[in-house]
Amino acid sequence: MKCVLILYLSRDGHTARIARALCGSIAAAGGRAEMMDLVEAEREGVDWARYDLRVLGAPVLYGTYDKRLFDFVAKHKAELDARPNAFFNVSVVARIPAKATVEGNRYMQKFLQLSPWQPRDLKVIAGKVNYPVWAWYERLMIQLIMKYTDGPTDPSTVIDYTDWDDVAAYGRHLLTLA
Ligand SMILES: Cc1cc2nc3c(=O)[nH]c(=O)nc-3n(C[C@H](O)[C@H](O)[C@H](O)COP(=O)(O)O)c2cc1C
Repeated sequence: MKCVLILYLSRDGHTARIARALCGSIAAAGGRAEMMDLVEAEREGVDWARYDLRVLGAPVLYGTYDKRLFDFVAKHKAELDARPNAFFNVSVVARIPAKATVEGNRYMQKFLQLSPWQPRDLKVIAGKVNYPVWAWYERLMIQLIMKYTDGPTDPSTVIDYTDWDDVAAYGRHLLTLA
């Protein structure tokens, strides 16, 4: 049975939720999947040989990614590249169809420019707007992004933009890469 490793970063839990859904979808399609927080993976170490496919997922924060993502891919490029591998990002601008493609999502393009690891498979996923849990200055920044992209600016807004059927389909796709 093919085994997939999903390493993720998640500030507010949404990317972790996506990783969990991917694991469920992979298991339902007859594979095995394990998820691990990337920070924990770095601390505890990863038994890379157990995994037929290595997947990384991270949210976009302030137009970029947590530095620990770049540190991790720089350090583990060889292990990631040794077998099939994939990367997905999560952002609120990806709720707009034109920005939900690899070519149209500038955060994905930014990742490809900055990362020494060039994943073999890429996926853009829309995330969650959750103004009430964000600090005022974070809320302000996202409200600004939303203003320019015709999204919600009401500070009480909580909207999950993730297409969960598409996430399930992505899980099945990942299994075919393993
Ligand atoms: C501090 C902060 C900065 C963010 N910056 C961006 C951004 O620049 N562009 C964007 O599309 N989404 C941005 N987002 C939205 C997140 O990518 C989205 O909420 C995602 O679902 C968060 O995933 P997580 O819960 O796994 O951390 C930001 C969110 C926060 C909290």
